[in-house]
Amino acid sequence: MEQNKIIRDLRVLTEEFIPSRILHRDSQLSSLKTSLSPLLSDSRPRNSFLFGPPGTGKTSISIHVAGELKKQIPLKFAHINCWESYTRHSILYSALKGFGIFAQRKGTPTDDLLEEFRNKSKGPCLIVLDEIDRLEECEILYDLMQAGAGLIMISNSENALYRMDPRIRSRLSSTENIQFSRYTDRELSDILSDRREWGLVPGALSRQQIGKISLLSNGDARTALGMLSIAAQKAEEKGLGKIPSSLIDSTLPQAISGSMKRILESLTPHQRIIIDILKGGKKGSGELFPSLQKECSRQGVDEMVNRTFRKQMERLVRHGLVSFEGEGRWRVYSLPEP
Ligand SMILES: Nc1ncnc2c1ncn2[C@@H]1O[C@H](COP(=O)(O)OP(=O)(O)OP(=O)(O)O)[C@@H](O)[C@H]1O
Ligand SMILES: [Mg+2]
Repeated sequence: MEQNKIIRDLRVLTEEFIPSRILHRDSQLSSLKTSLSPLLSDSRPRNSFLFGPPGTGKTSISIHVAGELKKQIPLKFAHINCWESYTRHSILYSALKGFGIFAQRKGTPTDDLLEEFRNKSKGPCLIVLDEIDRLEECEILYDLMQAGAGLIMISNSENALYRMDPRIRSRLSSTENIQFSRYTDRELSDILSDRREWGLVPGALSRQQIGKISLLSNGDARTALGMLSIAAQKAEEKGLGKIPSSLIDSTLPQAISGSMKRILESLTPHQRIIIDILKGGKKGSGELFPSLQKECSRQGVDEMVNRTFRKQMERLVRHGLVSFEGEGRWRVYSLPEP
């Protein structure tokens, strides 16, 4: 097999990779560890709320710290993305799945899942609710806390917890707020240099090039690592011995659109079909629903009842992925202007 000239370990350059060294997040790490330290003596930890712009390390730190704890105690742990799981039922299902228990997804009543969660979460238990602003049935927070689970809640928006019901907000009043700011160029350069060491063949990317990527990434480590990884892969495909600077410039739009892609990838098949249909132009709601049914049967996706369709449309509108004009039967849906 031919030796790679650029990439030493592609895994290290992927977004899912959780680095064992988290750089420039000492104060956030220390706050989070302090909040969670009661878990070590089998007591209830303090809940935390991590907020800040995209690509600033919120998800990585949570998973990293949970990993450290797991080495010391038999921690029940689940990382749940509330974009994907936003109902009480699906959160409980995902939490159990995180513990390694696979409940029957359809048909198991929510109360049964809750009962199972209560039984299985005994002892030290930590649940990460990522993108918590997407959570729709917020009373689940109450259930999780009642069962004794510690919570790490994550959002881009500092106000994500304000919209909760007063009863839940009061239960969350002692939550530790931990802020994440954009990285400075120098901090991003350090993060990139660390990855370069593990991910790339020595000499493939220069220090100046790392500086350039950092400058273009606007404090977002995901964009920076995305640029590095795309440029490295392109250079490798071309059989080059070093990454040329021209390749770095051309990767920026692709790395930025990676964030948008992330949102689109987390859509349900129905939501994706709706967006695809609207890519073809505006559609009245009376026209959109039958088009959706037709497309579902063509793609072998379960058909949808009208009530679910309306709920899905509300969700897409609420999250800014679809816009509309007019009301009721006259409502016309379209994709928002970029
Ligand atoms: N301090 C750091 N040290 C090393 N790698 C980091 C650091 N911060 C972020 N990264 C890397 O950057 C990428 C994005 O980080 P992460 O997913 O944690 O961001 P986030 O704050 O959760 O973003 P979002 O709000 O968009 O979900 C990950 O691949 C992660 O490994
Ligand atoms: Mg995240």
